[in-house]
Amino acid sequence: MSSLGFSSPGFLQLLYILKFFCLLPLVIGSNETESDRQALLCLKSQLTSSAEVLSSWSNASMEFCSWHGVTCSTQYPRRVTALDLSSEGITGSISPCIADLTYLTKLQLSNNSFYGSIPSELGFLTQLSILNISMNSLEGNNLVGSIPDTLGHVPTLETLAVDLNNLSGQVPPSIFNVSSLTYLGIANNSLTGRLPSNIGYTLPNIQELILHNKKFSGSIPSSLLNASHLQSLFLTNNSLTGHIPFFGSLQNLKILDMAYNMLEAGDWSFVSSLSNCSKLTKLLFDGNNLQGNLPSSIGNLSSNLEQLWLRNNQISRLIPPGIGNLKSLNMFYMDCNYLTGNIPPTIGYLHNMVILSFAQNRLSGQIPGTTGNLVQLNELHLDGNNLSGSIPESIHHCTQLKTLNLAHNSLHGTIPVHIFKIFSLSEQLNLSHNYLSGGIPQEVGNLINLNKLSISNNRLSGNIPSTLGQCVILESLELQSNFLEGIIPESFAKLEGINKLDISHNKLSGKIPEFLASFKSLINLNLSFNNFYGPLPSGGVFLDTSVISFEGNDRLCARAPLKGIPFCSALVDRRRVHRSLVLALKIVTPVVVVITILCFLMIRSRKRVPLNSRKSMQLKPHLRQLNGDMEKITYQDIVKATNGFSSANLIGSGSFGTVYKGNLEFRQDQVAIKIFNLSTYGAHRSFAAECEALKNVRHRNLVKVITVCSSVDSTGADFRALVFEYIQNGNLDMWLHPKEHEHYQRNFLMLSQRINIALDIAFALDYLHNRCATPLVHCDLKPSNILLGLDMVAYVSDFGLARFQCTRPNSDRDSLTSLSCIKGSIGYIPPEYGMSEERSTKGDVYSFGVILLEMVTSISPTEEIFNDGTSLRDLVASNFPKDIFKIVDPTMLQDDIDATEVLQSCVIPLVRIGLSCSMTSPKDRCEMGQVCSEILRIKDALSKIDDE
Ligand SMILES: *[C@@H]1O[C@H](CO)[C@@H](O)[C@H](O)[C@H]1NC(C)=O
Ligand SMILES: *[C@@H]1O[C@H](CO)[C@@H](O)[C@H](O)[C@H]1NC(C)=O
Ligand SMILES: *[C@@H]1O[C@H](CO)[C@@H](O)[C@H](O)[C@H]1NC(C)=O
Ligand SMILES: *[C@@H]1O[C@H](CO)[C@@H](O)[C@H](O)[C@H]1NC(C)=O
Ligand SMILES: *[C@@H]1O[C@H](CO)[C@@H](O)[C@H](O)[C@H]1NC(C)=O
Repeated sequence: MSSLGFSSPGFLQLLYILKFFCLLPLVIGSNETESDRQALLCLKSQLTSSAEVLSSWSNASMEFCSWHGVTCSTQYPRRVTALDLSSEGITGSISPCIADLTYLTKLQLSNNSFYGSIPSELGFLTQLSILNISMNSLEGNNLVGSIPDTLGHVPTLETLAVDLNNLSGQVPPSIFNVSSLTYLGIANNSLTGRLPSNIGYTLPNIQELILHNKKFSGSIPSSLLNASHLQSLFLTNNSLTGHIPFFGSLQNLKILDMAYNMLEAGDWSFVSSLSNCSKLTKLLFDGNNLQGNLPSSIGNLSSNLEQLWLRNNQISRLIPPGIGNLKSLNMFYMDCNYLTGNIPPTIGYLHNMVILSFAQNRLSGQIPGTTGNLVQLNELHLDGNNLSGSIPESIHHCTQLKTLNLAHNSLHGTIPVHIFKIFSLSEQLNLSHNYLSGGIPQEVGNLINLNKLSISNNRLSGNIPSTLGQCVILESLELQSNFLEGIIPESFAKLEGINKLDISHNKLSGKIPEFLASFKSLINLNLSFNNFYGPLPSGGVFLDTSVISFEGNDRLCARAPLKGIPFCSALVDRRRVHRSLVLALKIVTPVVVVITILCFLMIRSRKRVPLNSRKSMQLKPHLRQLNGDMEKITYQDIVKATNGFSSANLIGSGSFGTVYKGNLEFRQDQVAIKIFNLSTYGAHRSFAAECEALKNVRHRNLVKVITVCSSVDSTGADFRALVFEYIQNGNLDMWLHPKEHEHYQRNFLMLSQRINIALDIAFALDYLHNRCATPLVHCDLKPSNILLGLDMVAYVSDFGLARFQCTRPNSDRDSLTSLSCIKGSIGYIPPEYGMSEERSTKGDVYSFGVILLEMVTSISPTEEIFNDGTSLRDLVASNFPKDIFKIVDPTMLQDDIDATEVLQSCVIPLVRIGLSCSMTSPKDRCEMGQVCSEILRIKDALSKIDDE
């Protein structure tokens, strides 16, 4: 104490006396050590429920430097320099006495339940460097009022953390002038204010700026780009507008969180600028106004980047394949944008990925098999896109998956059994709203940790596997809108904890099991539109019609009166037996009569075989073979299937007849029914040719025949029809020329899709020409005969003109070729057919060549410009190869890939194949096997470019 330094004994004595008799309190006040002790006691006096934690803080104890949470300076006099009471469960207000601890440099009161306001006296602590009073909003208590302006005048303040309280009012502008600040956290309060435009200059040392949940508006001050120490910038949930600045000058930047503002991407150059920030780990831009396509420079961002959040923007077009460079990425959210194109297989390089979401976009194509490389993945969200193809089996390598959501896509095929090897699936497995078919594998019972399973709205058939009962943690099970049959398995008795069970709109039957009544947690049980029968269980959920739905099960009854369902009683049952007997008699008698009459008529009609059906008699041998194990169908079946040949079912017509889509009773999937117009000359032969061809062929890229109908119609006339599987996605002509077909809703075919389609056709032709016992010539290959499945697999159809390549002259097959009207289609017929030359596989090769040129250019060979005698081939040849870009369809090229490279490595080779297939002389044309391998090579080349 400085007063003790006086050397005069007289003065000392006087002081001594004064101290004792007059100024005792004052002098004690000037004994600063004692004053610290008193300040601490005073602070404690404002706290409640702190008895235990602060028991050492006692009036009886002089050793305040050893009190809990107190740190003193090491030299004499010992003064309190730090007070750390964070996370102590303290409740109370912060007393202004704290300002008496004038040596205080650190004050940490965070994560307690302090209430009241921040005492402005804190501003007198001129040595304070850390003030952390954040997180005091626990248990309802929190700090209110404003941030005292005085804090802006503490020259030593480095950390000011008041986040997560209930502070309000303006942020005092003085706060932004404390140049010593390295940390400013005022987030999560109700503070208002503006980001000062010179903030980057007034806070030159700032490292972390945490300003989310404010009402800050305006643009991000460009002065911030001078705050070269900045590491973290949190501006989430403000109302900031304007373009995202170029942060490239901030070399220390690690976290940039600007989610939920109204920021714009401009030309996205800010991304290239950010590639200078090599320490960047998190980039969060959700919920802004980012538009346009993600630049490929995204792949140049820091290899340390762990999180990239871009959900809820308006980002369109393709995901740049370069994304695969971001090797450290573990969270990638792109959901709710307008992305199109495929998911680049390069995502398979992101081995650290934990959460990946591309949900709610417009992505198409297949789920890349490389997804299986993401072995750390916890969550995969691809729902709400237009993904097609089957679920890649490789996905079972993702053994950490908790959530797998592939709902609302166009996925096909069966559910891969391997998916049920992912034992980690615990949150949800959602495959609903796709086109999955086949049964539900027994292995589903392996998912014993699963909470939610949804496979509704598919085309699943078969029984519900009883193994599902092993998934006892299930809270939600959705199987509705499939073609499931059989009963509700007994094993479901174990699913006691289930909240939601929806098995509606299936073909389930049997009785409703009694155990369902005892399920206490059920809040939604939907059994409607099945074939359940018998009494509903009584009690439990069955008392509450707001919980259960059972409509559309005509044979259910209730034991106790229940709205909308008949009452079952012994009487009713007896009456039912009686009624069914009467019904049986009523039906059986006329049926017997009708059958007798029919037999009689048939015998009569046999006797007078009409002349014109002699041809059909000749067809019998191959018909029977084709019809082997097929379901026999009648004219009536076809009338029913097509809704009486309703125009709504009509999907096409050609020279020999019409094609309808329809539903046959014995099949779940829709079928295409080709009905031959036998009054057209040649139709009989066309039917014969098609039967003959189809009985011999079977290939992945050929439309499969389901059955044949050879019968008579209602007038007794001959009737011929072929039933095929229905290929859902239109034909290649519609896709290449959408305008002519009012087919606007479709996406354009991308180059990769065109290559795949060309390859499918080439495979089919190679099979027909080279892999059948006798080479089969299609003779009418054109885009409208190439059908496309939902997964964009191509199927060659319409074998009405097909014939086997002549090997033995004068065989009866040759007589078919003499039909001069059968020539194939203008634009695609090889020139030699016009000279009545023999049909040969080389003719198909020509048609294929023209189709290939049409696919590359989207110009039809029948367009008016070719009326002058030139051809599509001439047009292409005259631009090949130098000017080929002039006639290539630009819509098939992705913006972000190197167009020159794609032209060189893919388009020009494709055109070359097209040209060499369509040579005038058949012997100059190449051969389909060779074409297949060349297209395969082009396909590989494209995928390499995509990966770059
Ligand atoms: C100041 O007070 C402390 C007790 O808090 C005491 O130990 C010390 O002797 C006092 N110093 C003077 C100079 O009175
Ligand atoms: C502290 O103790 C002194 C005497 O030792 C007494 O006078 C004073 O009232 C006490 N203060 C409190 C707050 O208990
Ligand atoms: C807050 O305090 C509680 C105990 O009161 C503790 O469990 C929790 O971990 C603390 N939180 C932080 C962020 O320190
Ligand atoms: C403030 O205290 C809380 C809780 O103890 C802690 O989590 C946080 O890191 C502290 N903030 C600063 C800037 O030191
Ligand atoms: C925050 O303070 C306002 C008054 O300023 C009060 O109405 C509100 O309930 C408080 N919020 C909480 C979570 O305590």
